[in-house]
Amino acid sequence: MLLSWNYRQTEAICTVPIMGVGPRMNKFYIETFGCQMNVHDSEKVIGTLVGKGYSQVETPDEADLVLYNTCSIRDRAEQKVFNRLNDFKKRSKDKVIGVLGCVAQQEGEKIFDRAPYVSLVAGSASYNQFPQMLVQLEAGNRRVTGLSLDTEDTFEVPYTRRDNPHKAFLTIIEGCNKSCAYCVVPMTRGPERSRASAGVLEEARQLVLNGYSEITLLGQNVNSYMDPSDAGLDFAKLLRRMGEVEGLKRVRFTTSHPRDFVKEIVDAVDENPVLCNHIHLPVQSGSTTVLDRMQRLYTRDEYMRRIEWMKNAKRNIAITSDIIVGFPGETDEEFAQTLHLLDEVQYDAIFAFKYSQRPNTPALQYKDHMSEEEKGSRLGVVQEHQRQIQIPRNASYIGNVEEVIVDGYNKATQQWLGKNTQNKTISFSHPVIPGSGGDGSTIEGSYLKVRVTRSGPSSLGGEAVV
Ligand code: SAH
Ligand code: SF4
Ligand code: F3S
Repeated sequence: MLLSWNYRQTEAICTVPIMGVGPRMNKFYIETFGCQMNVHDSEKVIGTLVGKGYSQVETPDEADLVLYNTCSIRDRAEQKVFNRLNDFKKRSKDKVIGVLGCVAQQEGEKIFDRAPYVSLVAGSASYNQFPQMLVQLEAGNRRVTGLSLDTEDTFEVPYTRRDNPHKAFLTIIEGCNKSCAYCVVPMTRGPERSRASAGVLEEARQLVLNGYSEITLLGQNVNSYMDPSDAGLDFAKLLRRMGEVEGLKRVRFTTSHPRDFVKEIVDAVDENPVLCNHIHLPVQSGSTTVLDRMQRLYTRDEYMRRIEWMKNAKRNIAITSDIIVGFPGETDEEFAQTLHLLDEVQYDAIFAFKYSQRPNTPALQYKDHMSEEEKGSRLGVVQEHQRQIQIPRNASYIGNVEEVIVDGYNKATQQWLGKNTQNKTISFSHPVIPGSGGDGSTIEGSYLKVRVTRSGPSSLGGEAVV
């Protein structure tokens, strides 16, 4: 790996200078695709821009600088980005357009050829150089890149613009050192870099002082967090320290990788109610042979042992997962094992995806790629199977009194929406109707008790206990 000084001084910003001084950019628009890491990166980019005197606008037409923070996890996500750029092309005169995130990192300078009106292409590992990139753009350079992955730095900014005033994301680790055969993330986000625990805990305390009550710790694989400072906390210890931050009501974390998921994490959750009793532990497939071809580094049995730890906990830990169907060569029998695994685990929710071929990934070379129709039909089968599991699971909540944080109000149904510690959405009635008294009354952000009276496959409903 290159030393960081080398990266900083010579590699971060490669530009093809164009003579002349560029227009002063004042207003920016940003649109974000992809996962929570991308959402939070955008919050930090917005903070950086606002700190430099820019103001955020609601539509690309009003902006001088238009940024797309992109996702390339599946082919459709990537296509969305190019469609958006194409739509925008006609109106792009006099605007500076930047492509950030995973498509930027993956496609690199090829984006300038495919979309010549783009002036900035930068991946997330170079965002700590964002201010310098802005200077280059303001100087009129129209091929500014930040594409180096040779960094040990994390993207920490003095000011982060968060939209939700109650719930905050907090990055603890960036990048990924795994090499799942289907996945672009190690290539688009670079190697793992953990943040020092003192900075993480200080940011958590500041968030509480600013009124936040829920924090989600973020990383592609939070379980491999390893404090680079002398404190030397591993993830389970960091969780325990987070659970002790005064005034914090809820701590969540995502995503966990089964290989690095240790029992101490379950123990920490079990012993501290501030740590939410929901764990997202993506399995991807219920078949050991598919897991092996996916290079997931665990067997079905090893995964099930981790599920046992959670099931044996004193608290009722909700478990969710990601599933990929139609991985190259997936036989009927291997697919059936995924369905059996759903029966065995009894997940609270799953996110299921059709396998999507991604550039430069090992799985591209595998034999027996499945047709889209076949993948589509397996996706339907998995989703329906899980739906049947969720119906009775959710029905078992009827009669419970659950504490929710109130997220918002649905005017159409005249119901408030909240989430319990297990991350289940509960819609409920409450005497406060927003705006009814002309005083902007709201219960958003507060914690309330709700009695569950009805359930569906993916939600619960009830009444506030007032
Ligand atoms: N780091 C996390 C999340 C990775 S991306 C983890 O390891 O779990 C989120 C999900 O997208 C993955 O869990 C996987 O289910 C899905 N995914 C990733 N690459 C994919 C691909 N090529 N095709 C289909 N789904 C994919
Ligand atoms: Fe991708 Fe695997 Fe890393 Fe998750 S752990 S980001 S699926 S390579
Ligand atoms: Fe997408 Fe990149 Fe996240 S590929 S899912 S935005 S890490």
